[in-house]
Amino acid sequence: MEKIRVMISEEEVDKRIREIGAEITEKYAGKEILLICVLRGGSFFMCELAKRINLDVKIDFMSVSSYGGGTESSGHIKIIKDLEESVENRNVIVVEDIIDSGRTLSHLLELLKSRQPASLALCTLLDKPDRRVVEVPVDYTGFKIEDYFVVGYGLDYDQKYRNLPFIGKVELEDNSILK
Ligand code: IMP
Ligand code: MG
Repeated sequence: MEKIRVMISEEEVDKRIREIGAEITEKYAGKEILLICVLRGGSFFMCELAKRINLDVKIDFMSVSSYGGGTESSGHIKIIKDLEESVENRNVIVVEDIIDSGRTLSHLLELLKSRQPASLALCTLLDKPDRRVVEVPVDYTGFKIEDYFVVGYGLDYDQKYRNLPFIGKVELEDNSILK
């Protein structure tokens, strides 16, 4: 069995989410926001973030295919579940767990842009900038991290560990750290 090593503690994550919530509250003062959670990984972060935004907030969910069971991203996305709300003329913030190659998000942002929101921003809990293949404009970033495979706070390893309240690295049985 692999072990999970704490990389970013629950307290650090909580503090950072409060900061981002305050930043969004200030930036969008007087406006209504539509948070779009990218399932499944973005769900834990979106719930915590929504609670820290002191404005009218509505939420919706979208599911797109990315990694499957392994750890490598495919070159395209497939919409598995689309939004229930229309984004037209809304102030949309896409909430994602992590940006890795950027492929998923660049496709998703293009799609949402074509539906003509009043504004479109991207908020991610984690960013691995060294892994970027496709450029994506990130408006709010929780933490920039090195190129390790991470779990917790919504992020999974074969669907496990999403419920960990911290961000951790995966240490395999031979003591190597999963990348
Ligand atoms: P991208 O299209 O390569 O940017 O892939 C982004 C998606 O891959 C994220 O939304 C995650 O679901 C998944 N992913 C990327 N890196 C990790 C990781 O370190 N741990 C868990 N999932 C990851
Ligand atoms: Mg994801």
